[in-house]
Amino acid sequence: MEYSFLKIESKDGICIMKVSAPKSLNALNSTILKEIDDFVSNLDINDVRVLIITGDGEKAFVAGADIAEMANLNEQQGYEFSKLGALAFRRIETLEIPVIAAVNGFCLGGGCELAMACDIRIASSKAKFGQPEVGLGITPGFSGTYRLAKLVGQGYAKEMIFTGKVIKADEALRIGLVNAVYEPEELMGKAMEMAQVIKEKAPLALQYAKECINESYDLYADGAIELENKDFGRCFATEDQKEGMAAFLEKRKPNFVGK
Ligand code: CAA
Repeated sequence: MEYSFLKIESKDGICIMKVSAPKSLNALNSTILKEIDDFVSNLDINDVRVLIITGDGEKAFVAGADIAEMANLNEQQGYEFSKLGALAFRRIETLEIPVIAAVNGFCLGGGCELAMACDIRIASSKAKFGQPEVGLGITPGFSGTYRLAKLVGQGYAKEMIFTGKVIKADEALRIGLVNAVYEPEELMGKAMEMAQVIKEKAPLALQYAKECINESYDLYADGAIELENKDFGRCFATEDQKEGMAAFLEKRKPNFVGK
């Protein structure tokens, strides 16, 4: 498959997948989600030992799911959209090889969810993280509620999701959302260094170690992810979702009424 929104570079067992939609800060539309799903599903793990995921350009890793595409979805379409992202990201999480997210800029909503589906996250000092969805009248989708609470604990996850606050890389490091922070120009070099170290290890041992860690961590994954897909869909039957997304696109403050 030819990809319109992914740039792929692969050399000596390390593959870099860049999400590339510069006009919308790499926001994830359904075509990109299908491309990610196709790419990850067809990755030859005999050839690629470590995958690095990053965003194209200097400003964003991924600024979320594509609000323009979501604005007019109905409940069923909202559910399907969440499911599409959730399945693609679950494939990343369960891929037989280690996956490193190199977070180079805005990492919001669906972007944070993409990073959290990776095994390890490292960030540029310019990266910013957040789950701003409730400010758009929706819940996080793509398994963000599930993975954020698992990664940083319920209390901080609820604060981030309920307030929609955007945190800087040093705070993401403090709460354990990322493993390390580097100067922007060092980020990809550091990601490659880590990938090189991992690449030298025994592939099957890595695969089994990842499977073991995921197995206990993921005990309730399928139920939690399906519940989130349904609730994400339910938001699209509300006036607040239409208002929240229209307000973003019209660059104004939303007026929520609780319907
Ligand atoms: N979807 C669609 N378009 C987006 C986008 C998104 N998530 N994020 C940015 N863009 C577009 C903007 O609309 C803008 O387009 P125009 O030039 O045509 O106006 C362009 O990218 C550049 O963005 P800004 O002008 O807004 O850039 P900025 O530097 O002023 O702000 C930003 C950057 C803070 C990231 C801001 O763009 C922003 O808040 N983006 C939305 C973030 C967000 O809410 N993400 C969550 C989406 S919902 C979601 O992800 C659901 C889920 O869990 C599945």
